[in-house]
Amino acid sequence: MSPFFAAIFLHALCLANAVNDINFSTVYEWDKLDFVWPSGANSSNNRQTFNPNYVHLRYMAVFGERLFLSLDLKNEVPATLVWLPKSGTSTAPKLHPFPSWNLHIKYREKCDTIKVTQGIVADPDGRLWVLDDGTDGCSSKLWIFDLNNNDTTDRVHQFPDAVVSHSIGGRRMYEIVLDKLPDDDLAYIADYIAEHIIVYSRKTDKSWTVKTPGRSWFFLAVSPNREARQLYLSDRSYSNELYSVFVSELKNEGGTAGPKRIGKWREYAYRIVIDNANILYAAFHYKTYLSKWNISEPFREQRVHEVARLDCSWPFTFALDADDTLWMTERNESGGVLRHKLFKAAVGARPHLLTALPTA
Ligand SMILES: *[C@@H]1O[C@H](CO)[C@@H](O)[C@H](O)[C@H]1NC(C)=O
Ligand SMILES: *[C@@H]1O[C@H](CO)[C@@H](O)[C@H](O)[C@H]1NC(C)=O
Ligand SMILES: *[C@@H]1O[C@H](CO)[C@@H](O)[C@H](O)[C@H]1NC(C)=O
Ligand SMILES: *[C@@H]1O[C@H](CO)[C@@H](O)[C@H](O)[C@H]1NC(C)=O
Ligand SMILES: *[C@@H]1O[C@H](CO)[C@@H](O)[C@H](O)[C@H]1NC(C)=O
Repeated sequence: MSPFFAAIFLHALCLANAVNDINFSTVYEWDKLDFVWPSGANSSNNRQTFNPNYVHLRYMAVFGERLFLSLDLKNEVPATLVWLPKSGTSTAPKLHPFPSWNLHIKYREKCDTIKVTQGIVADPDGRLWVLDDGTDGCSSKLWIFDLNNNDTTDRVHQFPDAVVSHSIGGRRMYEIVLDKLPDDDLAYIADYIAEHIIVYSRKTDKSWTVKTPGRSWFFLAVSPNREARQLYLSDRSYSNELYSVFVSELKNEGGTAGPKRIGKWREYAYRIVIDNANILYAAFHYKTYLSKWNISEPFREQRVHEVARLDCSWPFTFALDADDTLWMTERNESGGVLRHKLFKAAVGARPHLLTALPTA
Protein backbone atom coordinates (compact mmCIF):
# COMPACT_ATOMS: atom_id res chain seq x y z
CA MET A 1 0.00 0.00 0.00
CA SER A 2 1.38 3.46 -0.87
CA PRO A 3 1.87 5.89 2.02
CA PHE A 4 -0.95 8.01 0.60
CA PHE A 5 -3.48 5.18 0.63
CA ALA A 6 -2.16 3.97 3.96
CA ALA A 7 -2.91 7.43 5.37
CA ILE A 8 -6.45 7.39 3.97
CA PHE A 9 -6.96 3.88 5.27
CA LEU A 10 -5.76 4.87 8.76
CA HIS A 11 -7.96 7.94 8.74
CA ALA A 12 -11.00 5.85 7.83
CA LEU A 13 -10.11 3.41 10.60
CA CYS A 14 -9.94 6.24 13.12
CA LEU A 15 -13.33 7.56 12.08
CA ALA A 16 -14.82 4.09 12.30
CA ASN A 17 -13.48 3.84 15.84
CA ALA A 18 -14.95 7.15 16.97
CA VAL A 19 -17.99 5.96 18.87
CA ASN A 20 -20.67 8.00 20.52
CA ASP A 21 -23.13 5.63 22.13
CA ILE A 22 -23.95 8.02 24.94
CA ASN A 23 -26.34 10.76 23.86
CA PHE A 24 -24.86 13.73 25.74
CA SER A 25 -26.52 17.10 25.50
CA THR A 26 -24.75 20.33 26.43
CA VAL A 27 -26.00 22.05 29.59
CA TYR A 28 -23.42 24.83 30.07
CA GLU A 29 -20.32 26.20 28.34
CA TRP A 30 -17.74 28.41 30.02
CA ASP A 31 -14.97 30.49 28.46
CA LYS A 32 -13.96 31.44 32.00
CA LEU A 33 -15.23 29.95 35.23
CA ASP A 34 -16.00 32.53 37.89
CA PHE A 35 -17.32 32.64 41.46
CA VAL A 36 -20.30 34.33 43.05
CA TRP A 37 -18.28 36.68 45.27
CA PRO A 38 -19.39 37.89 48.70
CA SER A 39 -20.02 41.60 49.11
CA GLY A 40 -17.33 42.24 51.73
CA ALA A 41 -14.93 39.40 51.08
CA ASN A 42 -12.52 38.14 53.71
CA SER A 43 -9.00 38.70 52.50
CA SER A 44 -8.38 34.94 52.37
CA ASN A 45 -10.97 34.55 49.60
CA ASN A 46 -9.57 37.31 47.49
CA ARG A 47 -11.25 38.24 44.25
CA GLN A 48 -8.21 40.22 43.08
CA THR A 49 -5.91 37.19 43.13
CA PHE A 50 -8.44 34.79 41.56
CA ASN A 51 -7.22 33.27 38.31
CA PRO A 52 -9.74 31.13 36.35
CA ASN A 53 -6.89 29.26 34.66
CA TYR A 54 -6.17 27.52 37.96
CA VAL A 55 -9.65 26.06 38.33
CA HIS A 56 -9.40 22.26 37.98
CA LEU A 57 -12.67 20.37 38.42
CA ARG A 58 -11.95 17.11 40.22
CA TYR A 59 -15.00 15.28 41.64
CA MET A 60 -18.72 15.77 41.13
CA ALA A 61 -21.87 14.83 43.06
CA VAL A 62 -25.52 15.54 42.27
CA PHE A 63 -28.53 15.94 44.51
CA GLY A 64 -31.89 17.61 43.98
CA GLU A 65 -31.48 20.64 41.77
CA ARG A 66 -27.76 21.12 42.37
CA LEU A 67 -24.41 19.81 41.15
CA PHE A 68 -21.48 19.86 43.56
CA LEU A 69 -17.88 20.02 42.40
CA SER A 70 -14.56 19.78 44.15
CA LEU A 71 -11.66 21.87 42.85
CA ASP A 72 -7.92 21.45 43.17
CA LEU A 73 -6.35 23.51 45.91
CA LYS A 74 -4.48 26.44 44.40
CA ASN A 75 -3.78 29.81 46.00
CA GLU A 76 -5.52 31.45 43.06
CA VAL A 77 -8.75 29.50 43.75
CA PRO A 78 -10.75 30.76 46.75
CA ALA A 79 -12.79 27.62 47.59
CA THR A 80 -12.32 23.89 46.87
CA LEU A 81 -16.01 22.97 47.11
CA VAL A 82 -18.68 24.67 45.01
CA TRP A 83 -22.18 24.15 43.64
CA LEU A 84 -24.09 24.99 40.48
CA PRO A 85 -27.79 24.78 39.59
CA LYS A 86 -28.68 21.80 37.36
CA SER A 87 -30.48 24.18 35.05
CA GLY A 88 -30.95 27.90 34.82
CA THR A 89 -31.18 30.93 32.58
CA SER A 90 -27.42 31.46 32.35
CA THR A 91 -25.46 29.30 29.91
CA ALA A 92 -22.30 29.90 32.00
CA PRO A 93 -23.39 30.08 35.65
CA LYS A 94 -20.99 31.14 38.37
CA LEU A 95 -19.64 28.83 41.06
CA HIS A 96 -21.18 29.20 44.52
CA PRO A 97 -18.93 28.25 47.45
CA PHE A 98 -20.47 25.37 49.40
CA PRO A 99 -21.92 25.75 51.95
CA SER A 100 -20.72 29.37 52.39
CA TRP A 101 -17.62 31.57 52.15
CA ASN A 102 -17.25 31.33 55.94
CA LEU A 103 -16.38 27.64 55.65
CA HIS A 104 -13.62 28.42 53.13
CA ILE A 105 -11.56 30.84 55.15
CA LYS A 106 -8.01 29.90 54.27
CA TYR A 107 -6.02 31.24 57.23
CA ARG A 108 -3.41 28.66 58.05
CA GLU A 109 -4.16 28.36 61.74
CA LYS A 110 -7.94 28.10 61.22
CA CYS A 111 -8.68 24.36 61.18
CA ASP A 112 -12.49 24.49 61.47
CA THR A 113 -12.98 25.33 57.78
CA ILE A 114 -12.81 23.13 54.65
CA LYS A 115 -9.19 22.94 53.53
CA VAL A 116 -8.58 20.61 50.58
CA THR A 117 -11.67 18.93 49.17
CA GLN A 118 -10.98 15.63 47.44
CA GLY A 119 -13.79 13.12 46.76
CA ILE A 120 -17.42 14.14 47.33
CA VAL A 121 -20.58 12.06 47.20
CA ALA A 122 -24.30 12.67 47.80
CA ASP A 123 -26.50 10.00 49.40
CA PRO A 124 -30.21 9.43 48.59
CA ASP A 125 -31.24 11.05 51.89
CA GLY A 126 -29.71 14.36 50.89
CA ARG A 127 -26.42 14.29 52.71
CA LEU A 128 -23.29 15.52 51.02
CA TRP A 129 -20.17 13.65 52.19
CA VAL A 130 -16.99 15.64 51.70
CA LEU A 131 -13.48 14.28 52.07
CA ASP A 132 -11.12 17.02 53.26
CA ASP A 133 -7.44 16.08 53.08
CA GLY A 134 -6.47 18.95 55.40
CA THR A 135 -3.19 20.83 55.38
CA ASP A 136 0.14 20.86 57.14
CA GLY A 137 -1.35 22.01 60.44
CA CYS A 138 -4.94 20.72 60.05
CA SER A 139 -5.63 16.99 59.93
CA SER A 140 -7.99 15.24 57.50
CA LYS A 141 -11.72 15.27 58.06
CA LEU A 142 -14.95 13.88 56.75
CA TRP A 143 -17.68 16.52 56.61
CA ILE A 144 -21.33 15.54 56.22
CA PHE A 145 -23.77 18.30 55.23
CA ASP A 146 -27.55 18.13 55.26
CA LEU A 147 -28.74 19.38 51.87
CA ASN A 148 -32.39 19.11 52.95
CA ASN A 149 -31.79 21.35 55.94
CA ASN A 150 -30.21 24.56 54.65
CA ASP A 151 -26.86 22.83 54.07
CA THR A 152 -26.18 22.67 57.78
CA THR A 153 -23.21 20.67 59.03
CA ASP A 154 -24.51 17.30 60.20
CA ARG A 155 -21.18 15.75 61.18
CA VAL A 156 -17.47 16.55 61.20
CA HIS A 157 -15.36 13.47 61.74
CA GLN A 158 -11.68 14.09 62.36
CA PHE A 159 -9.79 10.92 61.45
CA PRO A 160 -7.63 9.58 64.28
CA ASP A 161 -3.89 9.44 63.56
CA ALA A 162 -4.04 5.63 63.46
CA VAL A 163 -6.56 5.75 60.58
CA VAL A 164 -5.28 8.73 58.57
CA SER A 165 -1.83 10.04 59.41
CA HIS A 166 -1.85 13.45 61.08
CA SER A 167 1.47 14.17 59.38
CA ILE A 168 0.90 15.73 55.95
CA GLY A 169 3.52 13.53 54.29
CA GLY A 170 1.88 10.35 55.55
CA ARG A 171 -1.46 10.64 53.78
CA ARG A 172 -2.97 11.47 50.43
CA MET A 173 -6.73 11.06 50.48
CA TYR A 174 -8.49 10.75 47.15
CA GLU A 175 -11.91 9.30 46.81
CA ILE A 176 -14.96 8.42 48.90
CA VAL A 177 -17.85 6.11 47.97
CA LEU A 178 -20.90 5.03 49.98
CA ASP A 179 -22.57 1.76 50.89
CA LYS A 180 -26.09 1.86 52.29
CA LEU A 181 -26.87 -0.89 54.80
CA PRO A 182 -30.33 -1.43 56.34
CA ASP A 183 -29.16 0.15 59.61
CA ASP A 184 -26.06 2.18 58.75
CA ASP A 185 -24.25 4.15 56.05
CA LEU A 186 -20.64 3.20 55.44
CA ALA A 187 -18.07 5.18 53.51
CA TYR A 188 -15.06 3.56 51.85
CA ILE A 189 -12.12 5.90 51.39
CA ALA A 190 -8.85 5.65 49.46
CA ASP A 191 -5.58 7.01 50.85
CA TYR A 192 -2.96 6.70 48.15
CA ILE A 193 0.01 6.55 50.52
CA ALA A 194 -1.29 4.01 53.06
CA GLU A 195 -1.62 0.29 52.36
CA HIS A 196 -5.21 -0.02 53.50
CA ILE A 197 -8.82 0.94 52.79
CA ILE A 198 -10.47 3.35 55.26
CA VAL A 199 -14.03 2.64 56.41
CA TYR A 200 -16.30 5.10 58.25
CA SER A 201 -19.61 4.22 59.94
CA ARG A 202 -22.14 7.03 60.23
CA LYS A 203 -24.07 5.20 62.95
CA THR A 204 -21.13 4.88 65.34
CA ASP A 205 -19.17 7.91 63.99
CA LYS A 206 -16.10 5.68 63.95
CA SER A 207 -13.47 5.06 61.29
CA TRP A 208 -11.12 2.12 60.89
CA THR A 209 -8.77 0.58 58.38
CA VAL A 210 -8.66 -2.75 56.59
CA LYS A 211 -5.15 -3.69 55.53
CA THR A 212 -4.21 -4.47 51.94
CA PRO A 213 -0.50 -5.27 52.31
CA GLY A 214 1.68 -4.07 49.45
CA ARG A 215 -1.05 -1.98 47.80
CA SER A 216 -2.57 1.46 48.18
CA TRP A 217 -5.62 2.72 46.34
CA PHE A 218 -6.59 5.61 44.20
CA PHE A 219 -10.11 5.59 42.72
CA LEU A 220 -13.15 3.65 43.87
CA ALA A 221 -16.70 2.66 42.86
CA VAL A 222 -19.32 0.43 44.51
CA SER A 223 -21.44 -2.00 42.49
CA PRO A 224 -25.22 -1.75 42.78
CA ASN A 225 -25.71 -5.48 43.48
CA ARG A 226 -26.82 -5.65 47.11
CA GLU A 227 -26.39 -9.43 47.54
CA ALA A 228 -22.72 -9.52 46.60
CA ARG A 229 -21.73 -5.89 46.56
CA GLN A 230 -18.18 -5.17 45.50
CA LEU A 231 -15.83 -2.26 45.76
CA TYR A 232 -13.88 -1.63 42.55
CA LEU A 233 -10.49 0.04 42.92
CA SER A 234 -7.31 0.97 41.12
CA ASP A 235 -3.95 0.59 42.76
CA ARG A 236 -1.98 3.63 41.61
CA SER A 237 -2.67 7.05 40.19
CA TYR A 238 -1.14 5.93 36.87
CA SER A 239 -2.36 2.36 36.64
CA ASN A 240 -4.45 0.56 34.06
CA GLU A 241 -5.34 -2.30 36.35
CA LEU A 242 -8.72 -2.70 37.99
CA TYR A 243 -9.31 -4.67 41.20
CA SER A 244 -12.37 -5.62 43.20
CA VAL A 245 -13.12 -6.77 46.73
CA PHE A 246 -16.38 -7.91 48.38
CA VAL A 247 -17.53 -5.17 50.75
CA SER A 248 -18.20 -7.87 53.36
CA GLU A 249 -14.39 -8.09 53.74
CA LEU A 250 -14.27 -4.44 54.82
CA LYS A 251 -16.41 -4.79 57.94
CA ASN A 252 -13.55 -6.48 59.75
CA GLU A 253 -11.93 -3.66 61.72
CA GLY A 254 -8.15 -3.99 61.69
CA GLY A 255 -8.42 -7.06 59.46
CA THR A 256 -6.94 -7.74 56.05
CA ALA A 257 -8.71 -7.77 52.68
CA GLY A 258 -7.45 -9.25 49.45
CA PRO A 259 -8.68 -7.31 46.40
CA LYS A 260 -8.46 -9.38 43.23
CA ARG A 261 -7.19 -8.14 39.91
CA ILE A 262 -10.01 -8.36 37.40
CA GLY A 263 -8.88 -6.56 34.27
CA LYS A 264 -6.61 -4.18 32.52
CA TRP A 265 -7.67 -1.01 30.66
CA ARG A 266 -5.81 0.00 27.52
CA GLU A 267 -4.82 3.30 29.19
CA TYR A 268 -4.38 4.82 32.65
CA ALA A 269 -7.79 5.35 34.22
CA TYR A 270 -8.38 8.04 36.83
CA ARG A 271 -12.11 7.85 37.50
CA ILE A 272 -14.89 5.24 37.36
CA VAL A 273 -18.60 5.18 38.13
CA ILE A 274 -21.17 2.34 38.00
CA ASP A 275 -24.82 2.87 37.06
CA ASN A 276 -27.87 0.88 38.19
CA ALA A 277 -27.69 -1.37 35.14
CA ASN A 278 -24.20 -2.57 36.18
CA ILE A 279 -22.39 -0.53 33.57
CA LEU A 280 -19.04 0.79 34.74
CA TYR A 281 -17.80 3.93 32.97
CA ALA A 282 -14.13 4.96 33.06
CA ALA A 283 -12.13 8.05 32.07
CA PHE A 284 -8.40 8.07 31.30
CA HIS A 285 -5.50 10.48 31.70
CA TYR A 286 -4.86 12.48 28.49
CA LYS A 287 -7.52 10.50 26.56
CA THR A 288 -10.57 12.04 24.94
CA TYR A 289 -12.85 9.03 25.28
CA LEU A 290 -14.85 7.13 27.90
CA SER A 291 -14.97 3.36 28.07
CA LYS A 292 -17.55 1.08 29.60
CA TRP A 293 -17.70 -2.46 30.90
CA ASN A 294 -20.79 -4.44 31.92
CA ILE A 295 -19.66 -5.76 35.31
CA SER A 296 -22.09 -8.73 35.05
CA GLU A 297 -19.87 -10.06 32.28
CA PRO A 298 -16.15 -10.91 32.04
CA PHE A 299 -13.97 -7.80 31.74
CA ARG A 300 -14.17 -6.25 28.29
CA GLU A 301 -13.44 -2.60 27.52
CA GLN A 302 -15.70 -0.84 25.03
CA ARG A 303 -15.42 2.79 24.00
CA VAL A 304 -18.71 4.66 24.33
CA HIS A 305 -17.91 8.33 23.82
CA GLU A 306 -15.11 10.06 21.99
CA VAL A 307 -14.33 13.67 21.09
CA ALA A 308 -11.50 15.40 19.22
CA ARG A 309 -8.71 17.29 20.97
CA LEU A 310 -8.72 18.31 24.63
CA ASP A 311 -5.00 18.21 25.50
CA CYS A 312 -5.27 17.76 29.24
CA SER A 313 -4.49 15.09 31.80
CA TRP A 314 -7.89 14.99 33.55
CA PRO A 315 -10.34 15.86 30.76
CA PHE A 316 -13.61 14.62 32.27
CA THR A 317 -15.26 14.33 35.64
CA PHE A 318 -18.63 12.66 36.08
CA ALA A 319 -21.40 11.63 38.47
CA LEU A 320 -24.74 9.86 38.31
CA ASP A 321 -27.92 11.20 39.85
CA ALA A 322 -31.04 9.50 41.19
CA ASP A 323 -32.79 9.88 37.81
CA ASP A 324 -30.15 7.75 36.06
CA THR A 325 -28.63 10.78 34.43
CA LEU A 326 -24.90 10.83 33.84
CA TRP A 327 -23.48 14.35 34.30
CA MET A 328 -20.07 15.06 32.86
CA THR A 329 -17.74 18.04 32.70
CA GLU A 330 -15.23 18.40 29.88
CA ARG A 331 -12.04 20.46 30.07
CA ASN A 332 -10.39 21.64 26.87
CA GLU A 333 -6.88 23.08 27.06
CA SER A 334 -6.25 22.72 23.35
CA GLY A 335 -4.76 25.72 21.55
CA GLY A 336 -3.67 27.28 24.83
CA VAL A 337 -7.21 28.44 25.64
CA LEU A 338 -9.06 26.91 28.58
CA ARG A 339 -12.74 26.06 28.14
CA HIS A 340 -15.18 23.95 30.13
CA LYS A 341 -18.50 22.33 29.27
CA LEU A 342 -21.12 20.45 31.22
CA PHE A 343 -23.09 17.64 29.57
CA LYS A 344 -25.82 15.27 30.65
CA ALA A 345 -27.20 12.02 29.26
CA ALA A 346 -29.81 9.48 30.27
CA VAL A 347 -28.17 6.14 31.14
CA GLY A 348 -28.73 3.29 33.56
CA ALA A 349 -31.72 1.21 34.49
CA ARG A 350 -35.41 1.77 34.44
CA PRO A 351 -37.30 0.95 37.67
CA HIS A 352 -36.74 -2.68 38.68
CA LEU A 353 -40.21 -3.86 37.67
CA LEU A 354 -39.59 -3.00 34.05
CA THR A 355 -37.48 -5.78 32.62
CA ALA A 356 -36.36 -4.02 29.46
CA LEU A 357 -33.11 -2.15 29.91
CA PRO A 358 -32.08 0.55 27.48
CA THR A 359 -29.35 -0.51 25.09
CA ALA A 360 -26.53 1.77 26.21
C1 LIG B 1 -30.67 12.65 22.59
O1 LIG B 1 -31.06 13.49 23.67
C2 LIG B 1 -31.86 14.57 23.28
C3 LIG B 1 -32.07 15.50 24.47
O2 LIG B 1 -32.06 14.82 25.68
C4 LIG B 1 -33.17 14.02 22.72
O3 LIG B 1 -33.99 15.09 22.32
C5 LIG B 1 -32.87 13.11 21.53
O4 LIG B 1 -34.05 12.50 21.08
C6 LIG B 1 -31.88 12.02 21.94
N1 LIG B 1 -31.47 11.28 20.75
C7 LIG B 1 -31.40 9.95 20.71
C8 LIG B 1 -30.91 9.35 19.44
O5 LIG B 1 -31.69 9.25 21.67
C1 LIG C 1 -15.25 36.80 57.43
O1 LIG C 1 -14.87 35.81 58.37
C2 LIG C 1 -15.47 35.92 59.65
C3 LIG C 1 -14.99 34.75 60.50
O2 LIG C 1 -13.62 34.74 60.60
C4 LIG C 1 -16.98 35.89 59.53
O3 LIG C 1 -17.57 36.08 60.79
C5 LIG C 1 -17.45 36.95 58.55
O4 LIG C 1 -18.84 36.82 58.35
C6 LIG C 1 -16.74 36.79 57.22
N1 LIG C 1 -17.16 37.83 56.29
C7 LIG C 1 -17.70 37.58 55.11
C8 LIG C 1 -18.12 38.75 54.32
O5 LIG C 1 -17.86 36.45 54.68
C1 LIG D 1 -33.60 27.57 56.22
O1 LIG D 1 -33.28 28.93 56.47
C2 LIG D 1 -34.35 29.83 56.22
C3 LIG D 1 -33.85 31.25 56.36
O2 LIG D 1 -32.90 31.35 57.38
C4 LIG D 1 -35.50 29.51 57.18
O3 LIG D 1 -36.58 30.36 56.93
C5 LIG D 1 -35.93 28.06 56.96
O4 LIG D 1 -36.90 27.69 57.89
C6 LIG D 1 -34.75 27.11 57.09
N1 LIG D 1 -35.15 25.77 56.68
C7 LIG D 1 -34.93 24.71 57.44
C8 LIG D 1 -35.37 23.39 56.86
O5 LIG D 1 -34.36 24.76 58.52
C1 LIG E 1 -25.01 -6.84 31.22
O1 LIG E 1 -24.76 -8.22 31.13
C2 LIG E 1 -25.82 -9.06 31.60
C3 LIG E 1 -25.32 -10.49 31.60
O2 LIG E 1 -24.85 -10.83 30.33
C4 LIG E 1 -27.03 -8.83 30.71
O3 LIG E 1 -28.11 -9.61 31.17
C5 LIG E 1 -27.42 -7.36 30.75
O4 LIG E 1 -28.47 -7.10 29.84
C6 LIG E 1 -26.23 -6.48 30.38
N1 LIG E 1 -26.59 -5.08 30.63
C7 LIG E 1 -26.58 -4.14 29.70
C8 LIG E 1 -27.06 -2.80 30.12
O5 LIG E 1 -26.19 -4.36 28.56
C1 LIG F 1 -10.94 22.00 21.98
O1 LIG F 1 -10.50 23.28 21.55
C2 LIG F 1 -9.85 23.28 20.30
C3 LIG F 1 -9.28 24.67 20.06
O2 LIG F 1 -10.24 25.66 20.27
C4 LIG F 1 -10.86 22.84 19.24
O3 LIG F 1 -10.23 22.81 17.97
C5 LIG F 1 -11.36 21.45 19.61
O4 LIG F 1 -12.36 21.04 18.67
C6 LIG F 1 -11.94 21.45 20.98
N1 LIG F 1 -12.30 20.08 21.35
C7 LIG F 1 -13.55 19.69 21.55
C8 LIG F 1 -13.74 18.26 21.89
O5 LIG F 1 -14.51 20.45 21.44
